Amino acid sequence: MTHVTTAEGPTGSVTARVPAKVNLQLSVGPLREDGYHDVVTVYHAVSLFDEVTVTGAERTSVVVTGEGGPAVPLGPANFAVRAAVALARATGRRGKGSGGVQIEIRKRIPVAAGLAGGSADAAAALVACNELWRTGLSTGELAEVGARIGSDVPFALTGGTAVGLGRGERLTTALVSGTYHWVLAFGATGLSTPDVYAACDRLRAARRGKDGKPPVIPEPQLSTGLMAALRSGDPVAVGPLLSNDLQPAALSLQPLLRRALQAGKEHGAHGAIVSGSGPTCAFLAKNASAARDLAVAVTGAGVCRAVVQVSGPAPGASVVESGAVA
Ligand code: C5P
Repeated sequence: MTHVTTAEGPTGSVTARVPAKVNLQLSVGPLREDGYHDVVTVYHAVSLFDEVTVTGAERTSVVVTGEGGPAVPLGPANFAVRAAVALARATGRRGKGSGGVQIEIRKRIPVAAGLAGGSADAAAALVACNELWRTGLSTGELAEVGARIGSDVPFALTGGTAVGLGRGERLTTALVSGTYHWVLAFGATGLSTPDVYAACDRLRAARRGKDGKPPVIPEPQLSTGLMAALRSGDPVAVGPLLSNDLQPAALSLQPLLRRALQAGKEHGAHGAIVSGSGPTCAFLAKNASAARDLAVAVTGAGVCRAVVQVSGPAPGASVVESGAVA
């Protein structure tokens, strides 16, 4: 670990690790005036992690390596950069040299995959900068800063399994027993979250009732059945209760995803669902060895770009290496 003392003050490096998420339930309400949708979602963090290292620097910059790295923007639109800048502002570190960081993102979470990889990188940057700068914000305070960057950032900070309301940013921890074993099947190309929400609105508007009017979209409700199954810790009970209102929209944009879902079910998944806005498909297995067999079978079916085996719930963004200098 290198510690550098610059003219502006001491610097160091901090690395944070952050999980991907799948949505065990994603119920989408009507379009709001601000362009978002109210959701009721059950987030579940899984053991597929990005790592973000921040090093004190005069100016903020970012490099990205790993899974989908070339697709990640390197300018001010980068989620980790936005997070670092937002935290520097929120904590008054705006002077020359004091709020700059060199950011290195090592990606394993694919981009535009429905796994909240961008929000994960923002959450990791918040946690790492908070440690580097010794700014001492609580997870709740970091979540307030992060929610302005992406709806999934607060969950990436907390991890575990949690119910998300509002845009998804208002969280309550869910009571869950046991460990869940998943196979994730990555799509060949990504899907843009706004495009999938827009396709969802279009599909709903096209579903006219007998009176020729578009249907009234009900307020989303938390599935009590799913919550009870999660408390019981039984994947066989959880599997059929997984639900995602965005799935028809993701399938309309990438019809080949049907084949991936079908392959997962045929090879023994107890639940098969598009994760978030897709195109990643998440398959729930009975246990770790069933997940290994399922991963091999789904790979053999040739219906996706790559397959990984993960488990959840995983912890939220946390510092794994710190050379921060007070
Ligand atoms: O908050 P985030 O950056 O993840 O949102 C990206 C886009 O996804 C939003 O601009 C919006 O189009 C859509 N979205 C939505 N309702 C949500 C979350 C996201 O419509 N609850």
